[in-house]
Amino acid sequence: MSQALATKQEENDSYEVDQSFYEDVISGLTGTYKTLSPKYFYDEVGSRFFDEICELEEYYPYQTELKLLPRAAKDIADIFLKPVSIVEFGAGSLLKIRPLFDEIKQVREFIPIDISGEHLNQACDELRSEFPNINIQARHADFCRPVDLPVFRGQRLGFFPGSTIGNFTPDQASDFLLSARKTLGKDAFMLVGVDTKKTPELLHNAYNDTQGVTAKFNKNILDRINREMNADIETKNFDHYAFYNTAKGRIEMHLVSKKKQSIDILGKQIEFKTGESIHTECSYKYAPEDFTALVSTSGWNVDQVWLADKDMFSMFLLRAKAVI
Ligand SMILES: C[S@@+](CC[C@H](N)C(=O)[O-])C[C@H]1O[C@@H](n2cnc3c(N)ncnc32)[C@H](O)[C@@H]1O
Repeated sequence: MSQALATKQEENDSYEVDQSFYEDVISGLTGTYKTLSPKYFYDEVGSRFFDEICELEEYYPYQTELKLLPRAAKDIADIFLKPVSIVEFGAGSLLKIRPLFDEIKQVREFIPIDISGEHLNQACDELRSEFPNINIQARHADFCRPVDLPVFRGQRLGFFPGSTIGNFTPDQASDFLLSARKTLGKDAFMLVGVDTKKTPELLHNAYNDTQGVTAKFNKNILDRINREMNADIETKNFDHYAFYNTAKGRIEMHLVSKKKQSIDILGKQIEFKTGESIHTECSYKYAPEDFTALVSTSGWNVDQVWLADKDMFSMFLLRAKAVI
């Protein structure tokens, strides 16, 4: 344990600081270009903010994907004639699994993985009462690390909705898909929700809603550091800033310091200049042919593609390559 953590814990026994969160925060905020990983948005509070974002009219990915899913689920149901185990990566509030359960009659097991453990457990309790015949085994885990799955006699279907894959850089997305291919096995399929390229105006509005919910979601990462590391960050001294970077094909979300300031995280002072930013999230948008190219070097082939009205969103069914 680091000296700072040990001292803090002696000062206040009620503080339990997650070591890897602490190390990531300090290394992210002390580099020349300040960053925080988007996975740290999601504690109990952040997961609730994300649910609120999904209710916003401007945030088209949620509703568009939800409309596409019953069609995709119907189209793929016949592939699964043997018992199926579905593994969902970044499962959140479990609102998108229902169309798959409704159409794929052979689902016997469901393994939702999420970093926001308490939120996931509550969502699982509801799902169990709706689908008592499916064995639901929640995994509170980081999906970027290898996940142990129980032995299952049947087929595996990976499920990765929400365009969460866009939060990876293309190289990270490729590494993730390769690792998911190894986890799910050579007979597996994977259904992935991928956001498409579109006009900067539509994209801008989706990440800059008029009610300021996305701004609260973004700033929660600072509040979370305050809560979990007894830090003294004044979130009102940071602006939510999100824009579409056309050259890179991605939305970037930042928190920009409104003034020269210093923050204290467990005794470590971190300085900010006026206008200096913390880059908190990327959300890459893919043309269907670009995502197809990425997939084919990552252990999978594209089996089917669905496009939403006006090409607002896409879903890809991937089939595992036998040899990787
Ligand atoms: C964009 S939300 C999507 C939620 C849901 N799948 C949907 O489509 O509405 C991303 C989800 O992935 C989870 N998540 C983000 N990074 C993660 C990680 N590294 N490991 C596990 N879960 C993660 C978050 O807690 C959140 O529930």
